[in-house]
Amino acid sequence: MRSFVIAAALGVAALTFAVGSVSGQTAGAGVELKSLRGTSPTQDLDPPDVARQNVSGRFDRAYRQQPPLIPHQIDRYQIDLKANQCLGCHDWSVAAKNGAPTLSMTHYQDRDGRQTDTVAGTRWFCTQCHVPQAEAKELVENTFRPSQTVK
Ligand code: HEC
Ligand code: HEC
Repeated sequence: MRSFVIAAALGVAALTFAVGSVSGQTAGAGVELKSLRGTSPTQDLDPPDVARQNVSGRFDRAYRQQPPLIPHQIDRYQIDLKANQCLGCHDWSVAAKNGAPTLSMTHYQDRDGRQTDTVAGTRWFCTQCHVPQAEAKELVENTFRPSQTVK
């Protein structure tokens, strides 16, 4: 008797599962999925791997306050909690020796406006603001124009 009850319960469970997956399939078939951007979610929208792209020359800034684009590869420069290899060339204390531009003084000012000798914590993660320059078309069409070109 007991094993009959267990078998019956298993049967019902299996049936529920089967019905569930069948109805799942019918709902999926024929329904075209759309992402919020309106494109098919299977379309490849991956941006190019900009960290490994090396575009020569310098790009203009797209707007006045833009953090300058990085005109060199950065894939081998580590930035984590303890290490920041960008500073090995760009910190004021070593920049001349490496022929690299020095961090501007805004990078040596903490959030209370105090001048610091070492780079401010708020500027530690360089790539939060600076990105390598790259020939990258916008992934989604947009109407952005820098302020000086708006008439
Ligand atoms: C091996 C030395 C070296 C390292 C390490 C290095 N840079 Fe540079 N960086 C340079 C040199 C040299 C230039 C100037 C290149 C030029 O003028 O074309 C430069 C230019 C730049 C500029 C452009 C500045 C401007 O005024 O236009 C930015 C931004 C920059 N680097 C950010 C970074 C970041 C962020 C890292 C770490 C991920 C980094 N750099 C690591 C040597 C280095
Ligand atoms: C919070 C955003 C932010 C972070 C983080 C940041 N920067 Fe900048 N950086 C800027 C902006 C904005 C400018 C241009 C205005 C200025 O000089 O303050 C700039 C300018 C520069 C310049 C050009 C300086 C000059 O006088 O031409 C270099 C080089 C640079 N940053 C490198 C770095 C490096 C390396 C790091 C990481 C240690 C870093 N920045 C972190 C925003 C940032």
